[in-house]
Amino acid sequence: MITTSGLTKIYRSGGPRGRAITALDDVDLHVAEGEVYGVIGQSGAGKSSLIRCVNLLERPTSGTVTVAGQDLTALAGRGPRAGRELRAARSRIGMVFQHFNLLSSRTVQDNVELPLEILGLSGRERARKAAELLDLVGLGERARAYPAQLSGGQKQRVGIARALAAEPKVLLSDEATSALDPETTRSILGLLRDLNRQLGLTVLLITHEMDVVKSICDSAALMREGRIVESGTVTDLLATPGSELAAALFPVSGGGEDPERTVVDLTFQGDAAGRPVISRLARTYDIDVSILGAAVDTVAGRQVGRMRIELPGRYEDNVVPIGFLREQGLHVERAEHPGPDAPAAPPAGPAAPPVAALAKEETK
Ligand SMILES: Nc1ncnc2c1ncn2[C@@H]1O[C@H](COP(=O)(O)OP(=O)(O)OP(=O)(O)O)[C@@H](O)[C@H]1O
Ligand SMILES: [Mg+2]
Repeated sequence: MITTSGLTKIYRSGGPRGRAITALDDVDLHVAEGEVYGVIGQSGAGKSSLIRCVNLLERPTSGTVTVAGQDLTALAGRGPRAGRELRAARSRIGMVFQHFNLLSSRTVQDNVELPLEILGLSGRERARKAAELLDLVGLGERARAYPAQLSGGQKQRVGIARALAAEPKVLLSDEATSALDPETTRSILGLLRDLNRQLGLTVLLITHEMDVVKSICDSAALMREGRIVESGTVTDLLATPGSELAAALFPVSGGGEDPERTVVDLTFQGDAAGRPVISRLARTYDIDVSILGAAVDTVAGRQVGRMRIELPGRYEDNVVPIGFLREQGLHVERAEHPGPDAPAAPPAGPAAPPVAALAKEETK
């Protein structure tokens, strides 16, 4: 539904001879129809640049953007000076912002009607459509209120209703929940998930919060310094050895100091999550298994989890029990061993850095 290939964006500050900042560096992104796709990364990684290039609010320096089969980069103009064709294409892409971007002098209903005015609908059609959308986002009763009279979550619901006014097939969201408390975040994410299911809406969302990815994304990509360093469906990522996203989604840590013991990370999903694999392992091989950490969750309606366990003996001595775990449908990976020459690990252990690295600085 959304494909970018070789997408590059270089900003120049201070004229053509000024310093160049590469915000996007050869980004290939593929968002399938009907999925919720999350892009996560640290501040400055290029997430907003990516989303602004996808709807051509920003003209990419090179590369192409295709949305619903249409090559947007081939259409003329950019930003407010977009040509007619680009404006039409963009009206089929809804956009939701972190700070809602509502017009304070207009009522809730008039805010939702705004894109419909631009499309040239009659007053009656606009009012009917706005009422329908406000019902959809649970604000049917507040049509006459002004933005200042609403809570943050309600404002974001208006933002979402407005984004849906032109019946887009694609919804882009840049940190839509970053200004909201955890409870309200959950309700907005729930709304996006419902809209995705009910309307078949494809959602591309940008976030710096792992919890957002965990609660609603089918697929995810990790961005760093303008590049996508990992991407895939959440379940595939979980089964990918060494995946930073998987480790950050399901952090497990601890152990690994004693060379006479073997520490492995297990990833399980679906059926395997419900089976007593560990107790069977202990019984079958008569070994003491220590569970060092575990995280189980539901991702996109499926049970998935990771667990770090410790087995007695060296890794080489544990080939048979590890084979047994793999046979049970678990993905088994040797935990990173700090080794005697390795730099001192942070207190939380080797699996923790990705999460810390993804957390945005508090001041922002
Ligand atoms: N209009 C601009 N002119 C010059 N540089 C820019 C512009 N917009 C973004 N940048 C630079 O491009 C890089 C990527 O910025 P971008 O806003 O895409 O990051 P981000 O991942 O969205 O960060 P955040 O999580 O803080 O919103 C940064 O180094 C930023 O300073
Ligand atoms: Mg941003």
